[in-house]
Amino acid sequence: MYTKLLEMAKEAAENAYAPYSGLRVGAAILGEDGSIFTGCNIENASYGATVCAERVALYTAVSKGVRKFRAVAVTHIPCGICRQTLFEFGDMDVITPDAVQKLSLLLPEAFTL
Ligand code: THU
Repeated sequence: MYTKLLEMAKEAAENAYAPYSGLRVGAAILGEDGSIFTGCNIENASYGATVCAERVALYTAVSKGVRKFRAVAVTHIPCGICRQTLFEFGDMDVITPDAVQKLSLLLPEAFTL
């Protein structure tokens, strides 16, 4: 069902800039309107400035005015920061090569204001 989205995430991973960890991550996020935005991880010599693939995809979508999402496909399981960041824009399906799960299952009791 989400085969194409996962394929797009894998393709996005090819653009990863990961000279420090060597881990190439890709993400593709599907808006409720059917639009898709992709992202890859972008590392930095100042390690804390590194951004994850999911957030690059999410922020690209939001910067284009898309705020409601059906699903996000990621080549690896999302880290805690990305789970919280994604949850800001609602619960959605999280597609990884091994599973399809609700974000709320991966982030129980998410922080909200
Ligand atoms: N990374 C992601 O892109 N997404 C995650 O959810 C976890 C980690 C990246 C950040 C860094 O470039 C590399 O994986 C190793 O942590």
